[in-house]
Amino acid sequence: MTIQERVDALLKKMTLKEKIGQLNQAGTTMTCTLPGFEPDMDTWVSEMLQGKITKAELDRRVAMCEENLREDEIRDGLLGSYVNLYDDEKIARGTDIARKESRLGIPVFVGVDVIHGYRTMFPTPLALSCSWDLDAVRRETQVAKREAWVSGVNWTFGPMLDISRDARWGRIVESPGEDPFLAGEIGRVQVEEFQREEEDGCRLMATAKHFLAYGAASGGQDYNTVDMSERQIYETYLPPFRAAVDAGVGAVMSAFHDLNGVPCTMNRWLLTDVLRKELGFDGFVVSDAEAVKQCVVHGTARDEREAAKESLLAGGDMDMSSLDYIQYLEDLVQSGEISEEEIDRAAGRVLAKKFEFGLFDRPWTYDPERIRKTVLSEENRAAALDVGKRCAVLLKNDGVLPIGDSVRKILIVGALADDRQALMGPWSFTGRADDQITIVEGMRRYAPEGVEITYCRGFGVDEDRSGFEEAYKAAKEADLVIAVAGEEAYMSGEAASRADLHLTGCQEEFLLGIAGRSVPTVVVLVNGRPLAIGALQEHTGIGAILESWHLGTEFGNAVAEILFGRYNPSGKLTVTFANEGGQEPMYYNHPNTGRPGNDFKFTSKYQDVPIKPLYPFGYGLSYTTFAYEKLTLEKTTLKMEDTLRCRVTVKNTGKREGEEIVQLYIRDLAASVVRPVRELKGFQKISLAPGEEKTVSFEVPVTRMGFYDQTCHYRVEPGTFRVFAGPDSTKGLEQDFEVI
Ligand code: NOJ
Repeated sequence: MTIQERVDALLKKMTLKEKIGQLNQAGTTMTCTLPGFEPDMDTWVSEMLQGKITKAELDRRVAMCEENLREDEIRDGLLGSYVNLYDDEKIARGTDIARKESRLGIPVFVGVDVIHGYRTMFPTPLALSCSWDLDAVRRETQVAKREAWVSGVNWTFGPMLDISRDARWGRIVESPGEDPFLAGEIGRVQVEEFQREEEDGCRLMATAKHFLAYGAASGGQDYNTVDMSERQIYETYLPPFRAAVDAGVGAVMSAFHDLNGVPCTMNRWLLTDVLRKELGFDGFVVSDAEAVKQCVVHGTARDEREAAKESLLAGGDMDMSSLDYIQYLEDLVQSGEISEEEIDRAAGRVLAKKFEFGLFDRPWTYDPERIRKTVLSEENRAAALDVGKRCAVLLKNDGVLPIGDSVRKILIVGALADDRQALMGPWSFTGRADDQITIVEGMRRYAPEGVEITYCRGFGVDEDRSGFEEAYKAAKEADLVIAVAGEEAYMSGEAASRADLHLTGCQEEFLLGIAGRSVPTVVVLVNGRPLAIGALQEHTGIGAILESWHLGTEFGNAVAEILFGRYNPSGKLTVTFANEGGQEPMYYNHPNTGRPGNDFKFTSKYQDVPIKPLYPFGYGLSYTTFAYEKLTLEKTTLKMEDTLRCRVTVKNTGKREGEEIVQLYIRDLAASVVRPVRELKGFQKISLAPGEEKTVSFEVPVTRMGFYDQTCHYRVEPGTFRVFAGPDSTKGLEQDFEVI
């Protein structure tokens, strides 16, 4: 029988209520084991995210509660899917009830945010994108998949594919950066790998989220409204989702915000016309958490009943956490406001994915021994280390790095250097702080014989200056200072937008203070977003800046390998660093104005900050240097059906082996609508020994050089184009060609 036949046969046996149950996704509920203690998970998590309570305190409170699996709802077929159930024993219990005790034995989806690892944490998505390394992306995904799958998870809410051009938006940390092409490549690999079935049945269904243009939240303020031209939607925000759909992604999550006036949750144009009809998506759409009921708050539904109706009719198949579908859909069918076919259609989509992902035929079996052997294995940690070190970006280096033999005494300062929880980064609920390697530990582990490492807290992310003097004194004894600054884990992520992109509290003051004391200082940044660190870039006392984002469980080891020169940094930025938050959104592939910024007064710029970004998209240093030579095009006149074939030679002109990310951009010089000054069309990460050179070839079909015209139709216009091959979005060799 085909999947569709099995779905149809099953639907025939189901009651209306059971079908609606498939559209209902919810978390567990809490009751308290201590009398007089009220469980309030939402408030506690929120307090933790705001730094009001620690993760340990949250865990203590949770330990006083009992997590209820909604057993009766599962048994009655009223809950088709769990959201964020992490405990493997509980997953075993919940999934068992569904299979063995419900009338039809329909298995449940267990959906979890597997964002950057499960138990072994890997670099955050933004960090991972800075590797520009699709093998690394695949490895991270594979380990995360296996650890989650053995633990009972069968569905992940990832990859997040929101193009992010605004560092004020906290969720930039979860994104693959600002470029649609790179994001699509990363998303494709993640979807393929999450969903690839391994011999023992290991696989997760993936979710492309948040559909659509969530990264364009006005002012970078989370959940905020988005008003945008269709052309911008199609050119910038849709491509990664198209790539995910083409790769067969099982689910798409609609976004929280309103797009051009209609909340994505109930946006029929978006969920049906674009997603299904144009992109050809055949999976199911899940709302974001409580987003169905939030349509009432948006003011586009009178009440939750209407929100349920409008969301379902728009193409939203599953309700995450609002409980509105389970509460109102039956009545809506009975009153004739929606037809049972609509319910069948949505339930059929969910069931089809349950069949496709083996929930019926290859159910997960609970095997604590297998979990113990799999999660956080030596192998997985080694993979996390290897992927981790590929993601850090060296932003500045006057030669102080890698740490040389003359350095015998190193002082590490900064609370973040030794803070396991902070180093894990956001979205690491399934990880454990105890497993986390701190920067202090990593540096001690990798320090060569005879090199002394001292740690002194000195400063944190707040205004407390009481540790300054002690640290400044300790610095006098050191040959080198490693100062670790940035953001604690939950200063980026969901609901963590910031208007000011400077280092918080007294961090900058401390860093400039210590840098002025004639001991070379290296700044290691731990953060989720580009920061306004122009002062650090300018200060000559700061010899180097390493952007390490959040590199996962092996963070400290990865940083140490880089600082001691055991690994030559190779990451490049996938987001632009603006000079100041007021310049955001700042991104490389912007359209030209009629008056591009320059020294002349009447041009597009701010009066009080440099025109150019602090660090552009694609930028990153290495311990060696590379030269670009001989950009050659196979043909300089191309027909519409042709492919641009070009080659560039890259030479390692330094003394160390190193990796270079060779980037290819194009620009359409004259078109009927304004085109971006550059658009990424290809990239390759290559490794070169000292003195070695390699010729890198790129192929770009002319059909990929088009745009959406004034009537929002995709086309390639004949005319002159420019191709650039170089080390970042501002440099490189260039040559023109004609499309006829
Ligand atoms: C809200 C977030 O926006 C989404 O990304 C996540 O998957 C869900 N909550 C579930 O945790």
